[in-house]
Amino acid sequence: MSANQVQPKLIIHGGAGGHLKSAKGEIIVRQALHSIIEEVYSLLTYGGSAIDAVIMGCQLLENQPIFNAGTGSVLQSDGQIRMSAALMDGARQRFSGVINVSRVRHPIELANFLQGEDDRVLSDYGAFELLRELNIPMYDPLIDIRLKEWIQEREENFDKEMAGVVAEQELIHEPRKGTIGVVALDCNGKIAVGTSTGGKGLERIGRVSDSAMPAGNYADASAGVSCTGIGEDIMEECLAAKIVIRVTDGMSLVDAMEKSMTESRSRKRDVGAIALAADGTISWGKTSEVLLAAYHDGEKIGDTLNWNNQELAGYQ
Ligand code: GLY
Repeated sequence: MSANQVQPKLIIHGGAGGHLKSAKGEIIVRQALHSIIEEVYSLLTYGGSAIDAVIMGCQLLENQPIFNAGTGSVLQSDGQIRMSAALMDGARQRFSGVINVSRVRHPIELANFLQGEDDRVLSDYGAFELLRELNIPMYDPLIDIRLKEWIQEREENFDKEMAGVVAEQELIHEPRKGTIGVVALDCNGKIAVGTSTGGKGLERIGRVSDSAMPAGNYADASAGVSCTGIGEDIMEECLAAKIVIRVTDGMSLVDAMEKSMTESRSRKRDVGAIALAADGTISWGKTSEVLLAAYHDGEKIGDTLNWNNQELAGYQ
């Protein structure tokens, strides 16, 4: 690393919600998160850009069927999958995304293409047209567990508020909120963030997720944040943008995270967030029981699976 280069940092998440039901579930989630962190961090070590690391991380998380994004996405009330994803390049402060797109393996790929366009956020019909324009092959992200979950919900008359965050048979009946997200700081000190989701699950057709809004995915030159949890709660707190702007205005990332989570808790929000600052600080926060996140600080991999709010919510 040359003198003006910084130590890359990386944090990813696979959602937030109630405690994992079994030790087996925890092992599955930890293995998935740690192997993705390892792979993406090596890209950053070899000089890869924050934006490339975020795209790669989001694709790997979208590929992982246990998480609610890409393959393994939850079904909406009508039994269809509609996914949303956003990408933000902190250095250019450029946001792009897709809302309620179907039949695509990697919604983040569309968000990436839109980084270079004048029209940078597309919804359902436009996103589908873009898929055709780019000749991206059609892909069905449905997995059996999600279909069974939806059929069971239908039998129970959809009395649950949302689908399970983790598609794992033993965990499926827990109310959780799934989304995936990646925040990266590269060796040139640049930050990028990406977030991708199948939504809350069982939602009304046309419902819009926070994940493709600055409320759920935001970065500038000083910090980047990806959120998970109930989209409506995240929007009403404008959580990702609020944390980032607090840092831009001079607050430390850990203080900005804590203040924003305290506010969210006082309004009984159900949210989680992961973050990085340009000074190398890694931080995370939640109001839900558990946050499924893992990070690489340059020396080691850690995760938040057994973290409770009494511990430090971040460090440099
Ligand atoms: N945070 C994901 C959603 O509510 O859509």
